[in-house]
Amino acid sequence: MEFNFNQNKSVIALLGAGSMGCAIAKRIGAGKTILLGDVSEKNLEARAAELRTSGYIVETHQVDACDALSVRAFAQKAALLGPVKYFIDTAGASPNQAKPEHIVKLDLIGTAIAIDEFAKVIAEGGSGLVISSQTGYMMHIDPEVEKLLALTPTEKLVELDYLKKDAVVNSGAAYIIAKRANHLRVRTAAATTWGDARARINSISPGVIVTPLAYDEFNAAGESYQKMIEASAARRVGTSEEIAAAGAFLLSEEASFITGTDLLIDGGVIAAIESDRYSLNIR
Ligand SMILES: NC(=O)c1ccc[n+]([C@@H]2O[C@H](COP(=O)([O-])OP(=O)(O)OC[C@H]3O[C@@H](n4cnc5c(N)ncnc54)[C@H](O)[C@@H]3O)[C@@H](O)[C@H]2O)c1
Repeated sequence: MEFNFNQNKSVIALLGAGSMGCAIAKRIGAGKTILLGDVSEKNLEARAAELRTSGYIVETHQVDACDALSVRAFAQKAALLGPVKYFIDTAGASPNQAKPEHIVKLDLIGTAIAIDEFAKVIAEGGSGLVISSQTGYMMHIDPEVEKLLALTPTEKLVELDYLKKDAVVNSGAAYIIAKRANHLRVRTAAATTWGDARARINSISPGVIVTPLAYDEFNAAGESYQKMIEASAARRVGTSEEIAAAGAFLLSEEASFITGTDLLIDGGVIAAIESDRYSLNIR
């Protein structure tokens, strides 16, 4: 039987229909239209089926977060479906999944593109959430470079010497820089494009959350992950549902005075590092 759902429901646009993103969409998605966007058609189909059978209204759109035109088309599709009240960006690749240049392209520039494109379609009173990472707190970046990462127009980011292929030495460094840049771009957008649209935007920096992406990291660097987790106050990994609970709050009316901020949810890993309980081996 075909159900005829009402149009003009508020829209949740999710870029990167992965584990954390879908957990957040599920948490806030009842009675709204959820637009799933992902580069993988297979992933889109599987996630859409899972959500639909749980009663959610779902549309899908194949999108490459690295490609500005593709992200623009995704944002426009969201706007055609109804008022875009929520935008969630979780498209990303981790250090053991991709080369440094791809991580810069996807996790850093791709996020900057999405923030720009969704500022154009977000509804008044709407809110955005970017999933960054605890790694954004793991390296000191020169304040002048941070300013460039925060304020350089998105199309010019690729020209920054700091992000050139030879300067970003490995995928780990690329990931750390990209996730720190996410905090900075969110902060700038909150004050400028998103603020002008009367919308809010924040980020969450998760620690180790068990998802397929995290398994790729465990498999490559298991022992150091284990030690890092043992040094943290929580002494455990986190779940997508824990990120979804905080994400739902930041996206909600209850957080209407919160914008441009990052919420670190890492079970105390960064505190352990900053208290010399755990020493990072970053090259
Ligand atoms: N899992 C963790 O421990 C952890 C910790 C900190 C931060 N993060 C970050 O959280 C975000 C979500 O990760 P997750 O653990 O839910 O992983 P996930 O692999 O379940 O989700 C990531 C999604 O992004 C999609 N994607 C990849 N490239 C894309 C592209 N070019 N265009 C559109 N979509 C694309 C993937 O297909 C996937 O569905 C990522 O940005 C990741 O870096 C993860």
